[in-house]
Amino acid sequence: MLDVVIMAAGLGTRMKSRTAKVLHAVGGRPLVAHVVRAAAAIGADRLVTVVGHQAESVEAAVRRAAEGAGIRSIHFALQAEQFGTGHAVQQAAGYLEGDTVLVLSGDVPMLEATTLRALVDCHALETNAATLLSVRLADPAGYGRIVRSASGSFERIVEHRDATEAERSIDEINAGIYAFDRAKLLPALGRLSTGNDQGEYYLTDVLGMLVADGDRVGVVCHGDAAELAGINTRRELAETEARLKLRTLGRLMDSGVTIVDPLTTYVDDTVTVGRDTVLHPGTVLSGDSVVGEGCEIGPNAQLVDARLADDVHVRAMSVVEKASIAAGGRIGPFARIRPGTELGAGVHIGNFVEVKNSVLGAGAKANHLTYLGDAEVGANSNIGAGTVTCNYDGKNKHRTTIGERVYIGSDTMLVAPVTVGDGAKTGAGSVVTKDVEPDTLVVGVPARVVPKPNS
Ligand code: UD1
Ligand code: CA
Repeated sequence: MLDVVIMAAGLGTRMKSRTAKVLHAVGGRPLVAHVVRAAAAIGADRLVTVVGHQAESVEAAVRRAAEGAGIRSIHFALQAEQFGTGHAVQQAAGYLEGDTVLVLSGDVPMLEATTLRALVDCHALETNAATLLSVRLADPAGYGRIVRSASGSFERIVEHRDATEAERSIDEINAGIYAFDRAKLLPALGRLSTGNDQGEYYLTDVLGMLVADGDRVGVVCHGDAAELAGINTRRELAETEARLKLRTLGRLMDSGVTIVDPLTTYVDDTVTVGRDTVLHPGTVLSGDSVVGEGCEIGPNAQLVDARLADDVHVRAMSVVEKASIAAGGRIGPFARIRPGTELGAGVHIGNFVEVKNSVLGAGAKANHLTYLGDAEVGANSNIGAGTVTCNYDGKNKHRTTIGERVYIGSDTMLVAPVTVGDGAKTGAGSVVTKDVEPDTLVVGVPARVVPKPNS
């Protein structure tokens, strides 16, 4: 059983913000959500988050991320006043059940599951009472330093503010990420005191206590300092955004995605993109978007929670949000596909076309200047330029149903609720207020049936 504690009660004064630090976003998600994801990825059974500042909002963000990542046992420990990291973990103690407890900070969004795995594996292999991650920094100012004995074994951590000049010259720092044997952690937490410069209960003192008691404490010195950097300022937030982005784009390129200009392309690490897809400059892919193989996106296109099958083109200046596009779809340039829309195979949506909460069958086309809202369009129907589904009567929204192989003439107004049968046609400029039978032609304002010459 692996329990994970995330310390996330602090305000983060150096952010100069009304919003708690762990709620600030990088890569489209709150800092703490990234940490939750890493915890889930190594198979955390139980998550205990210590909350304080804006507890409700932090709880909501953590719950959302944890549920999304499949963590089943989710708990929150309130630390109403923040008396230090040791005090934070004391609040979580009552919720812990596992043999091993992983303690993380909520402000380390680049943290990768493989790093946590290495920490937990080393902890188990060496049967340590505690194991911590360290990194060497060119500028270690501000961090807790790792003090080692003459033989090189871990002795204790000293915080920068409490350190001597000699200790401040140590470049190996505590990353603030630990694995503890629960049976060793809990009694040590109870023995913490506040005899330090900040008058706080330091979690870091637990490690020195364990060594003094003759218990084993291991250190895993990690090579990538940037991955373990905690965010404290808005500058660091922006730097991390850039790094996180390049890491995500790098992974995509390694997996066979072409990114024409990584500098202007933004992809959240929650997005998946298939091989041989090309992302043109200015493309932004966010949320739970899934893009298939051989697609072309952009330049300057945006996908939010969009699902694209293979061989879909979303051309310049187009936006697709909470919608799905089947294989071979051609969207834009200058198109807007809004939530609830499902476009069938080979659908064409052209410039200045807005589609909202509508289902279009395979091969349907709306190539110019059209609004389709709350509509159903059958396969292979053609929607002429300037068509509007008048779906709103000032009070309620109504649906428009268009059959298969329908030809909607330019500038047709479809006053919903209305149904146009399979194979029907509307003349240019028609205002359709009544249902249209299959295979008939209607024209005019309001639209009337034009009898067939032979009937
Ligand atoms: C801590 C470590 C330091 C380490 C550094 C790495 C201690 C005493 N020091 O210092 O050795 O080098 O992290 O980044 O642990 N928090 C609470 N409740 C509290 C205090 C903090 O939940 O009462 C949370 C914060 O919200 C934050 C995390 O714990 O997410 C770390 O706290 P922070 O104040 O940033 O610790 P540092 O001073 O950076
Ligand atoms: Ca910190």
